Amino acid sequence: MAKFRYVIQADRVPPGRAVSIELEGHWYTISNDEGTFYATDEACPHEGGHLGGGEVRDGCLICPVHCWPWNLKTGLTDPKMPWLRLKRYTCEVREGQVFMDCTTPNALQ
Ligand code: FES
Repeated sequence: MAKFRYVIQADRVPPGRAVSIELEGHWYTISNDEGTFYATDEACPHEGGHLGGGEVRDGCLICPVHCWPWNLKTGLTDPKMPWLRLKRYTCEVREGQVFMDCTTPNALQ
């Protein structure tokens, strides 16, 4: 069963940006891709770079360390490397507030 928790005001995550948030002792990133919000893990699956503060463009969160783009819908950076996948979580915006369900990472899409 989904367990949505409030994480941040939507206007604190402008389009094209990603912000780190802490929830129940774990760090996540909330990204805004032209008004669509995504919740993912905060640590980059490559070498653990901090994805908060990264740039969001063309449906991808760009890691600030090596600039690999992580597709926010699939979690992949390269379809040829399916073992490297950024965990994604269900995220909703309600009346200007962002909520996420951190209990279950999204299934593959
Ligand atoms: S640490 Fe993120 S792409 Fe290398």
